[in-house]
Amino acid sequence: MRLPPICSLGLGVPAVLATQKVLGVGGKGNPLDDDFNKFAIDALGEFHVTGIAIAVVDGMESWAAGYGNATLPSSQNGDPIPVTPSTLFYCGSTTKAFTAATLSLMIDSGIYPSLSWQTPISTLIRDDFVLMDPYTWEQNHLTLEDALSHRTGFPRHDKSLGTFYGPDHHKATVRDLTRSLRWLPMVSEPRTKWRYCNLMFMVVSHAMQTLTGQWLGTTFRERIWAPLGMNSTYLSLEDALAGPEHLAGGYYWDYDAEVFETVSFSGLDEASGAGGVVSNVLDYTKWIRCLLNEATPLSKAGHEAIKTPRMAMSGNGKGYDSPMLYALAWQTSTYKGHRVYTHSGGMEAYGAEVYFLPDLGYGVVTLGNTALTSNYVGNILVWKLINDKLGIPESDRFDWAATAKQQLEDIVSSIDNAVERLYPDRADPPLPHLLALEAYTGTYFHPAYQNLTINLANGSETDIHRHNTKPRLRAVREDVVWQNTFDFEHVSGEFWVVFINMLKVPNGLNEEAAKAEFRVGATGRPEQLMIEFMEEGSEGVIEFEKIN
Ligand SMILES: *[C@@H]1O[C@H](CO)[C@@H](O)[C@H](O)[C@H]1NC(C)=O
Ligand SMILES: *[C@@H]1O[C@H](CO)[C@@H](O)[C@H](O)[C@H]1NC(C)=O
Ligand SMILES: *[C@@H]1O[C@H](CO)[C@@H](O)[C@H](O)[C@H]1NC(C)=O
Ligand SMILES: *[C@@H]1O[C@H](CO)[C@@H](O)[C@H](O)[C@H]1NC(C)=O
Repeated sequence: MRLPPICSLGLGVPAVLATQKVLGVGGKGNPLDDDFNKFAIDALGEFHVTGIAIAVVDGMESWAAGYGNATLPSSQNGDPIPVTPSTLFYCGSTTKAFTAATLSLMIDSGIYPSLSWQTPISTLIRDDFVLMDPYTWEQNHLTLEDALSHRTGFPRHDKSLGTFYGPDHHKATVRDLTRSLRWLPMVSEPRTKWRYCNLMFMVVSHAMQTLTGQWLGTTFRERIWAPLGMNSTYLSLEDALAGPEHLAGGYYWDYDAEVFETVSFSGLDEASGAGGVVSNVLDYTKWIRCLLNEATPLSKAGHEAIKTPRMAMSGNGKGYDSPMLYALAWQTSTYKGHRVYTHSGGMEAYGAEVYFLPDLGYGVVTLGNTALTSNYVGNILVWKLINDKLGIPESDRFDWAATAKQQLEDIVSSIDNAVERLYPDRADPPLPHLLALEAYTGTYFHPAYQNLTINLANGSETDIHRHNTKPRLRAVREDVVWQNTFDFEHVSGEFWVVFINMLKVPNGLNEEAAKAEFRVGATGRPEQLMIEFMEEGSEGVIEFEKIN
């Protein structure tokens, strides 16, 4: 088998480390050796990942390598550009750890009177942090710590995040996103359930920008990136493109045509402190070292705060020996008795995995450029390294590759069963819909989710994923952070299933299904559309009004 270009280098030890306490022992040679390189290339092929970069920190030493392609040949450029350790990738939700860490430094600084993890968000951004009527207690009491540990009671509402707001159709700011909270239902009591919510990190980003009076990217650089020498780390697409490093293209695998398709670069302004970082594995080793060594610029109290679990996540972490807990932007559990901190990130066509094990002085980061599956490959590579490091026999290792394959199958089968799952008691035979299909078309509006413009599907659309049915009604949503398509399949009467796909990554790996009901008024026309989004469980019922 022809091996693609591989770039591997030893990073050396920055001089500043000489004064820092270094835990753990030095590595016994480069773990990214020939066997590992072959293992990585095989994993890329098996899971259809274009490219991945990896770096390992082991005590005083670190290594990095790039596998596969950062950019595939195109009409403008005939040659693939290989991944190297300096290749830039979108880092997705691994951004969140910088938000929490930077906030720890703002708390420590004493510049902001009485700022603490327990500060109610509404005291910082009173006019903007307004919740729906029934949630007055939550409005007054939800704290920064609640937002950073995903325990506010808000579901994701990711599909509500717009890129334009208001009658003047201005470009979205994190303030606009924060102000949309007042239209969004909560799904649980605060502090009772762990429920991942990007929007709350955008809210905290807005609070931080309000306190500092400057863009979050500047604060990240001043407080963390500059002190750590992370000069290849950015919080905006424009800055990343202007930097000297190559930004990897984004790709998804088309399972039908069996080719990689290109995904255009997404803007990062709205993702902000929830997912806006672009960086490389070399810079992430500096960050991992800081975390492992409890080093500056964070204080000891800051390191402790971000690592202290606040919520139990649902169930035991797969492959771990104790329950998975969530601290401030870090998940934590134990593996063979060793504490593990980790966070993953995903941005349309990119996947990041960061791990550090303080008592081993050991950490690994992977950054890849293929939707979802680069997270699978990242985990497979990371866990091989951790198991090798610990000398765990093959028979005692959790099978991450088998788990990843199972997850891919589960995604497909859950979509195949969507009608049965969402409507187990539906009429059989189904009732017809009340009105002609054309009558349901038009624009439906919700103040947070904004416009949903439904058209007749004209038959040129692809089949609903693996269904052999054509969608009948379709909405294409381009003015949202994660652009998507809504395909409506009729169930019975006024009840439908909406299949939601990423517009830019339509291969079904992120597909989800929601329940929808049209309300026909006394006018004989549809007046409302109720949609219950179901990402990670019900996100509450969203009521859209038909506006034309
Ligand atoms: C990188 O791209 C080239 C050209 O498309 C291809 O031949 C090669 O197999 C790719 N490498 C990997 C690891 O996929
Ligand atoms: C990062 O940039 C600053 C300012 O240009 C420079 O002083 C520093 O040496 C750079 N650090 C690294 C690790 O390149
Ligand atoms: C929503 O649709 C209405 C009616 O078509 C239009 O007037 C309005 O500008 C749209 N709003 C946004 C934010 O696109
Ligand atoms: C069919 O509808 C899609 C949008 O759903 C549109 O992009 C396409 O141009 C339409 N094709 C025809 C032939 O009308």
